[in-house]
Amino acid sequence: MAFISMNLVTMLYLVASVCFIQALKGLSSPATARRGNAFGMAGMAIAALTTIALIAKLQADSTASGNGGGGMGFGLVALGVIVGGAVGAYLAKTVEMTKMPELVAAMHSLIGLAAVCIAVAAVSEPQAFNIAAPGEALPLGNRIELFIGTFVGAITFSGSVIAFGKLAGKYKFRLFQGAPVVFAGQHVLNLVLALVMVGLGLAFVFAGGVEPAWTPFMIMTAIAFVLGVLIIIPIGGADMPVVVSMLNSYSGWAAAGIGFSLNNAMLIIAGSLVGSSGAILSYIMCKAMNRSFFNVILGGFGGDAAAAATGGAGQAARPVKSGSADDASFLMSNAETVIIVPGYGLAVARAQHALKELVEKLTEHGVTVKYAIHPVAGRMPGHMNVLLAEAEVPYDQVFEMEDINGEFAQADVALILGANDVVNPAAKDPKSPIAGMPILEAFKAKTVIVNKRSMASGYAGLDNELFYMDKTMMVFGDAKKIIEEMVKAVE
Ligand code: TAP
Repeated sequence: MAFISMNLVTMLYLVASVCFIQALKGLSSPATARRGNAFGMAGMAIAALTTIALIAKLQADSTASGNGGGGMGFGLVALGVIVGGAVGAYLAKTVEMTKMPELVAAMHSLIGLAAVCIAVAAVSEPQAFNIAAPGEALPLGNRIELFIGTFVGAITFSGSVIAFGKLAGKYKFRLFQGAPVVFAGQHVLNLVLALVMVGLGLAFVFAGGVEPAWTPFMIMTAIAFVLGVLIIIPIGGADMPVVVSMLNSYSGWAAAGIGFSLNNAMLIIAGSLVGSSGAILSYIMCKAMNRSFFNVILGGFGGDAAAAATGGAGQAARPVKSGSADDASFLMSNAETVIIVPGYGLAVARAQHALKELVEKLTEHGVTVKYAIHPVAGRMPGHMNVLLAEAEVPYDQVFEMEDINGEFAQADVALILGANDVVNPAAKDPKSPIAGMPILEAFKAKTVIVNKRSMASGYAGLDNELFYMDKTMMVFGDAKKIIEEMVKAVE
């Protein structure tokens, strides 16, 4: 393996790149997602093995030329692969679906940190990276790459750490709370810091001399870390999905930046694919939520603390109609059409298998049942599709928001399971924090059945008028337990 030729390396990297493109193509539809994943795994295996072989070759070449191994540290790389691979495999096996977004945010933070570490190493020892001969200054092009790679990596790191804290939702630290942190002059401060950061970056890039301009470089990096925090803290509640996909995009660009520093085509290609697909996903999600991308980054649009507080307290006093699983089953068995809206609570309860059984039973009774999927239902893009695919729900029963919204008005029953924000009519109120976000129009159905455990608010921390409508029946309890009771009652 140590004697792999550079031509073979290039060819294998090309094969891996094609696999990655096929992976993205496959992941664009639930029906082909498994195949896409297989391509992604194959591409990553080829890329990793080729890189290990390349390192072994470089080390062997270096030893042969009398450089004593040139410090390539093959053993260290192998150790990194084993430890990193083991941690990754353990996490992938044990993580709950509902905890995926915070895991993804944590991974993004590591990519950002890796980019910063590699950039610092390359500035300090350019000869080790073959980007400058001993005694020569870093070429201008490399200094530009290193400047960009460093600040994108630093922003990705600290921004992802904040996103991780917000998504985990279990830490007391104020910056890790879902509610936005806003203060006077925030945008101006961000703008000033960004300008100073770019100014210092240019000072690093255009400084003469063999010795790199460490002072502007280090201050620029520190400011980028602070900016990452400042950009993410004002974003709250309902806008977090866009943030996760935006950080995904940043982490791709940071990886591409490292690729330029290391002259590694694979990293440049894979990083650009992640960067551009993340940017496209962010755009699609902004469109799905009727937000401008710029506003999300600069805004702090999620539910605020005050709204969350009134959500909890105000509701207790207001009457709602509630019923049992049996009542709900009676209504559904006698309906012609039922539209099911799955949400985050369904995922928490792991009730997808029970739900599939309920739908089969209702279908046997001659009821037409469809699933309605909101683009940001759950806690990560495609969460509900993955959940239903896990229970092997047929794809032809599953409909995207724009395809099914027109059907709610004719539906006899809308059954909402552990969903809240995605059916909240408050989105139609221009003063609401979720104003303009498109919703599944379940409120138009003839009867609305809502299953959740209490009157607590959803992710955006807002009250939901839908629960108080005359035609709405609340069925309180854990989604899995309630759905299992419904299955028995329908039988
Ligand atoms: P949410 O608005 O979070 O509502 C979920 C509801 O499920 C809660 O009101 C909760 O009420 C209920 N619930 C929790 N555990 C339950 C259980 N075991 N059984 C029954 N019900 C349970 O969810 P949604 O409607 O799916 O909306 C998604 C929200 O998350 C949006 O605001 C979205 O922006 C945000 N978000 C989305 C993503 C992506 S990309 N999809 C990522 C991050 C955040 P109780 O406590 O009363 O049971």
